[in-house]
Amino acid sequence: MARKKIALVGAGQIGGTLALLAGLKELGDIVLFDIVEGVPQGKSLDIAEASPVEGFDARMAGANDFTGIAGADVVIVTAGVPRKPGMSRDDLIGINLKVMETVGAGIRDNCPDAFVICITNPLDAMVWALQKASGLPHGKVVGMAGVLDSARFRYFLAEEFDVSVEDVTAFVLGGHGDDMVPLIRYSTVAGIPLPDLIKMGWTTHEKLDAIVERTRKGGGEIVNLLKTGSAFYAPASSAIAMAESYLRDKKRVLPCAAYLDGEYDVKDMYVGVPVVIGEKGVERILEIEMSKDERTMFAKSVDSVKTLIEACKTVNPAFA
Ligand code: APR
Repeated sequence: MARKKIALVGAGQIGGTLALLAGLKELGDIVLFDIVEGVPQGKSLDIAEASPVEGFDARMAGANDFTGIAGADVVIVTAGVPRKPGMSRDDLIGINLKVMETVGAGIRDNCPDAFVICITNPLDAMVWALQKASGLPHGKVVGMAGVLDSARFRYFLAEEFDVSVEDVTAFVLGGHGDDMVPLIRYSTVAGIPLPDLIKMGWTTHEKLDAIVERTRKGGGEIVNLLKTGSAFYAPASSAIAMAESYLRDKKRVLPCAAYLDGEYDVKDMYVGVPVVIGEKGVERILEIEMSKDERTMFAKSVDSVKTLIEACKTVNPAFA
């Protein structure tokens, strides 16, 4: 059986890490694409040269032309620019929206059957634009944010409880950013919900509130430390988990930015919700009951995403 093909559009910090992880996990042959000549070729050759040492078989290639991603089964998009000092949010949207237009067209023309995972920020708006620009079915285009946000939440909780990260599950809803909605009562240690762990004396409300706040600002914490870029290891790991669930039809339940068509009373928007990812892409959207407070937080998060989408439509009326 031929190997699957994974196209990584954007060969920067996240793109390179994605290529290494996809190789180590033998998910398939990998092509790195970028507008900068030499970078995707150099990174793919470097990783290929690690393959004999690590013992994985994957054909690695670099490309500056979209024909390089032809026939890809999975496309992970990190192409774009990060927000720089002095740049407004609308400036960033303007630049990355153009990138989504060219990348969307490249995907439509070369691999219309692919499962597409968008990572480029501002995530919930960019994945919406990428789906529109590519014309792929909504269930085949998703955004990566929730897996990363919940991984951060899980890591902080595991530290607090001094238990294995493997035994901590976490649940987050909403858009990527300060408005995300971590759901304490659906987050557990070995199945024991966090509110029960407070009763058991394992932690306090105050400590959990601080962890929730740190999770919401997790991206900024890394930016402040790195100073010259944003997080890339954990974002890459998170997107690879989504790609693996699709390629191996694992049907994992993962929080993703998914297209909502009435679910959670939201229409024509991408918002972070739990979904099942299998061979068909997004196979199911889990619609959970929310308390009044949770609904208020979720609505605030949805409003932030709406503002971003309106900004996209203003920048380029073709998206309206
Ligand atoms: N087509 C292809 N690649 C592009 C394009 C384009 N039109 N425009 C820019 N790129 C490439 C850049 O040349 C660069 O190599 O996208 C890459 C982005 O890489 P980095 O700047 O290293 O950014 P990275 O840390 O990988 O993050 C990528 O993910 O988390 C988000 O906010 C982050 O939007 C950013 C994205």
